[in-house]
Amino acid sequence: MNNLIFDKHFLFFGGKGGVGKTTMATATAIYAADLGIQTLLVSTDPAHSVSDSLDQQIGGDSYTHVNNVSKLSAIELNTDEAIKNYSDIVKTQDPTGALSDFLGELDPTSLSPPGADETVAFIQILEFIQNPEFELVIFDTAPTGHTLKLLQLPEITEGWLFRMIKMRRKLGGMMSGLKTFLGGTGIPSEDEAFDKLEELKEQVEIARVHLANPTETEFIAVTIPNIMAIWETERLIRALYEVQFPINQIFVNQVQPESSGCPYCHTRFNNHQENLKKIKELYSDFNLKEIPLFEFEVRGIQKLRDLGNLLYK
Ligand SMILES: Nc1ncnc2c1ncn2[C@@H]1O[C@H](COP(=O)(O)OP(=O)(O)OP(=O)(O)O)[C@@H](O)[C@H]1O
Ligand SMILES: [Mg+2]
Repeated sequence: MNNLIFDKHFLFFGGKGGVGKTTMATATAIYAADLGIQTLLVSTDPAHSVSDSLDQQIGGDSYTHVNNVSKLSAIELNTDEAIKNYSDIVKTQDPTGALSDFLGELDPTSLSPPGADETVAFIQILEFIQNPEFELVIFDTAPTGHTLKLLQLPEITEGWLFRMIKMRRKLGGMMSGLKTFLGGTGIPSEDEAFDKLEELKEQVEIARVHLANPTETEFIAVTIPNIMAIWETERLIRALYEVQFPINQIFVNQVQPESSGCPYCHTRFNNHQENLKKIKELYSDFNLKEIPLFEFEVRGIQKLRDLGNLLYK
């Protein structure tokens, strides 16, 4: 289990809503930092809860150092500002919208940019992928659907950027001629924006290579032993295979411990054991880790540290 922390550079925690993604990501980050690994915990979930989990306010614009964990920093990505910057780049490339309209008529699907919020989150992720300051970057992701869109994005974005750049090259002269003719002066730094687009495309290509590399990257699916969560895990894993994202590890969280004298707990225990059997059959070639349901909420540094020891020792 320690290999996960020592060998990888990027760990993504994902799964259905409420299964324990944030808790596992945070506990892992503390454990790694305690081992002396310079670690960054990044929340890409718009409904951030890393601050609540760590019991410390984490910023969105720059890294916040986590109290009492000397090698850990965290950030909750603030997508609003970045969405604005992204829209500005897109607008500068096609200020009148004429280009999009014209080409959109030829192929209505070819020009629509990928979903702005996921694109922006991805662009922000690129920054961490290339930041040499951190030896390990741990991503606490949003529930499955949102995260899959995010991870499918390099492919979509790359295609879109490629088309956009190609068109700008072909039609750039024509567009600027048109703008001069129309007396358009308010198109500042168009070349700069074009350079940014090219730069972005390069970064996206680099990111794809890193994220698909199993020696660097791993996605950890967090689930709980109930049928609906198992189905969602299955969908998640299939989708990750499709985008060639390395996944070998499943954390089965909140497993009901056996308890005599509590008929309700006993019934839940039996049910969880049955579902665990299914999980083991389905994922015999995965590393599975069971985590019990604790009687308390797992938040704050000390409880998360205890959980980390349980996960990786
Ligand atoms: N093994 C466990 N035993 C007891 N409580 C747990 C356990 N794992 C997580 N919790 C608690 O369950 C709640 C949900 O956990 P968490 O926020 O980590 O889930 P999540 O998957 O990140 O949720 P979301 O989809 O909303 O982001 C938290 O209050 C957390 O403390
Ligand atoms: Mg969460």
